Amino acid sequence: MTPVLSLRGISKSFPGVMALSGVQLDLYPGQVTALVGENGAGKSTIVKVLTGIYQPEEGTISVDGTAMRFATPGDAAKAGVTAIHQETVLFDELTVAENIWLGHAPRGAFGLIDRRAMRSKAVELMRSIGADLDPDEVLKDLGIASKHLVAIARALSIDARVVIMDEPTAALSHKEINELYELVETLKAQGKAILFISHKFDEIFRIADRYTVFRDGQFVGEGKIVEVSETALVQMMVGRSVDQIFPKRTHNVGAEVLRVAGYNHPTEFADIAFTLRRGEILGFYGLVGAGRSEVMQALFGITKPSRGACMIDGKAAIIRTTTEAIAQGIVYVPEDRGRQGAVKGMPIFQNVSLPSLAQTSRGGFLRLAEEFKLARDYTSRLDLRAASLDQDVGLLSGGNQQKVVIAKWLATKPRVIILDEPTKGIDIGSKAAVHEFMAELAAQGLAVIMVSSEIPEVLGMSDRVIVMREGRIVAEVSGEQMTPETLVRAAAGIQEAA
Ligand SMILES: Nc1ncnc2c1ncn2[C@@H]1O[C@H](COP(=O)(O)OP(=O)(O)OP(=O)(O)O)[C@@H](O)[C@H]1O
Ligand SMILES: [Mg+2]
Repeated sequence: MTPVLSLRGISKSFPGVMALSGVQLDLYPGQVTALVGENGAGKSTIVKVLTGIYQPEEGTISVDGTAMRFATPGDAAKAGVTAIHQETVLFDELTVAENIWLGHAPRGAFGLIDRRAMRSKAVELMRSIGADLDPDEVLKDLGIASKHLVAIARALSIDARVVIMDEPTAALSHKEINELYELVETLKAQGKAILFISHKFDEIFRIADRYTVFRDGQFVGEGKIVEVSETALVQMMVGRSVDQIFPKRTHNVGAEVLRVAGYNHPTEFADIAFTLRRGEILGFYGLVGAGRSEVMQALFGITKPSRGACMIDGKAAIIRTTTEAIAQGIVYVPEDRGRQGAVKGMPIFQNVSLPSLAQTSRGGFLRLAEEFKLARDYTSRLDLRAASLDQDVGLLSGGNQQKVVIAKWLATKPRVIILDEPTKGIDIGSKAAVHEFMAELAAQGLAVIMVSSEIPEVLGMSDRVIVMREGRIVAEVSGEQMTPETLVRAAAGIQEAA
């Protein structure tokens, strides 16, 4: 079989970083090729080369065997290459339909934009991917998952031969993920070549036909998925074998730090009650949309519960703003770390030390040295890959930006940390580092709430798990009751078989 798209000897550097050095990649019609590699391996960079956003310094791109130059994104689109990027490029002020058709709207008589066709075709496209969004809804009113679906619809509106998805399932719920897999099958059946970037091995083995591995900007290998094992693939990616076992925890559960009682919200959640102790890791499992993040946001003072009480160390606590939450020792690391997290344009070390500045209170050089030390301590524990801590956060790879945000909040030495999907978008090697650090901090007395949709992570890390469904707590399990079946059943509202 001849590839539709073939890259050879592609190199791309940035000041101080060789993001890609002489890599190759082949994409075949009707096949899904998974591109795997650690955070910073060069995956998103090759996507930008493929879509004409970056110009490589060396190498060739051929489409159907003919060498091409993608000088602009328009050139790539014309050649039938379309991408759903890791950080979606959409316009918050425009509607769903406008976002889908921006730059290539259907036109009617006299070449005028046909708004009706725009809306009806938008609905059609969205239906084909199982999305049910109002085409007139303004984007800023949508959640991340819905925005992602709009990005997918936009990519499909360009009748592409090559569809690139850079971590497409990172922001989606189970249901939406399954719909995305079906969509990938449909695209395959239509003969499209698909490049699929993911850190989730289960999905790579489920949907990919082929794989290509990059490590530190270099091509390591490629082949058929059926001919490789997960262990071998991880070995190629990381250059060593990775223990996927969760860290042994020193269970050192102490006094109660947090008690939430009768938390209600007009639309998002009802009757939320739970406790959290020092040294405990409390998992929150549920499907996306179950209201887990909304509860956490209320605890952090981002939203307000309409009713309910919160106690810290047995005393009633009032949390009206995030500043008040932080003052009480509660911090929240949001799921949407891109937007709510890193301050782009600011160096890594300052991003980390930003909320902890009160602790490094001395002036001048001493302070700078302390800031650096703080940043170094925390980022190294989270396996951050960066040229230096002076580097602009905005120039880090997606996964590495996330590590900076986690480091920043941990560095405030909170009493309670709420981590929303802590390892989403983080590669398999670094994931183990994040888990180990979490376990160690818990052993030192930190109380952790971990919202996660990954069952192995929830089961592997938590002392206790609360399951939410449709805004309510539907189960609380610990010990032997903590099984995948119990969690899935509770989350989906399936009754135990009699
Ligand atoms: N615009 C840029 N300026 C400077 N360095 C950059 C830029 N874009 C990417 N890099 C660097 O290039 C390297 C590759 O980054 P890339 O985003 O391609 O990684 P990735 O494989 O997509 O990682 P992740 O899994 O975290 O998304 C990283 O070291 C990153 O910091
Ligand atoms: Mg990336």
